[in-house]
Amino acid sequence: MPGPGYAFLGAEEQANVEQVLQSWDLTRYAYDVPDKTSFVRGLELAAQEIFGAPYCIAVNSGTSALLTGLAALGVGPGDEVIVPGYTFIASIGSIVHSGATPVLAEVDASLTLDPRDVEERITPRTRAIMAVHMLGAPCDMDALRAIADRHELALLEDTAQACGAGYRGDRLGTIGRLGAFSLNPFKVITSGEGGLLLTGDSHLYQRAYAFQDQGWSVLRADRDNTGGDILFGLNLRMSELTAAVGSAQLAKLDTVLDSVRATKQRLVGLIPELPGLQRRILHDPAGECGTLLVYQLPTATAAAELAATLGTRTLVESGRHYYGNMPQLAGLSDGSSIPFHGRARTDVPDYRVGSLPLTDDILARSVAVSVGVSDSYLGAGFGVTVRSTATEIESAAEQFTRAAEKVLG
Ligand SMILES: Cc1ncc(COP(=O)(O)O)c(C=O)c1O
Repeated sequence: MPGPGYAFLGAEEQANVEQVLQSWDLTRYAYDVPDKTSFVRGLELAAQEIFGAPYCIAVNSGTSALLTGLAALGVGPGDEVIVPGYTFIASIGSIVHSGATPVLAEVDASLTLDPRDVEERITPRTRAIMAVHMLGAPCDMDALRAIADRHELALLEDTAQACGAGYRGDRLGTIGRLGAFSLNPFKVITSGEGGLLLTGDSHLYQRAYAFQDQGWSVLRADRDNTGGDILFGLNLRMSELTAAVGSAQLAKLDTVLDSVRATKQRLVGLIPELPGLQRRILHDPAGECGTLLVYQLPTATAAAELAATLGTRTLVESGRHYYGNMPQLAGLSDGSSIPFHGRARTDVPDYRVGSLPLTDDILARSVAVSVGVSDSYLGAGFGVTVRSTATEIESAAEQFTRAAEKVLG
């Protein structure tokens, strides 16, 4: 069971898919008729309602949502986008594919973008800040928004790992100018593949819509596309089968979150406070998804020992989520990891391991226990799921506590 939404796949998703199969309307567009009634449109409208966002566009992945957001903002060659050195590679890849330069910044003890470091990395070329809500928890959005406002930068939220989470009363993805979500199997809710992009800005909405649908205007209502900006777009559209599953999952979002949060609370209550064992700080404890429970130890050696005992790995070893595990970064300066000729950058920042010492340190000392997301690649290979019984949760808590006590002496 990769993400918690997976455990809730059932009759509702099946009924929606059946409806699509009965009609064979596999795409949102009935050719000459503007889209008003498709599952994709229904998903967009439901997301607007649930998240409290004026506009939503459904696309075929979280990566597409990020790329579309950057295109809507007009981010491109010559621009810099500040992004944390701890995020899934898709955040950085989308910036590279927009033509801009990713500038990596440190994460704080919450494992999300450190506002103080962000401010130090701003240059005259900075256009946007990508705030990634890692492992289900919100960034310090007040501080990031203040920095973005002060420097007139766009704030783009990568909410892929934190669908439904909040920050001081607002749903994540609605605080910045745009919010991107993923519906892949490891996320809070899933449609197999898929993504959502939220915004409160009607001009950005029009540009984003055009980008993900070959330059068409919103809902293809204006077939001449004379409504404003005329963009070359791509085809990043979501299919009806995907939206059929996604709509049923979105309707269950709060049920899924309640279940994950209750499971986390139970687990946390069973693990005693031990000297040297620190739970990661949260910028809004009530708002986080609760998909992962992260502990930080005093040393990297202790964390590695704890992870090994539990059969998992520390976060610094987690797949392509740590900048030091992204070999593509090394090739940015000579163009070898960019699939276009002549796009080598001349003054790229230093991406080598060691360039983000605070991030290196905190990730090497962090061990994640899975609560709703089980993903060894993410460093969440040990823990429980939303389907775990009380006995299984007790057993995981005991195993973790025994291993931590041994490591911490
Ligand atoms: C932080 C983050 N951003 C973006 C993505 C990309 O989402 P997708 O796999 O739907 O393209 C992911 C997915 O793992 C992610 O974790």
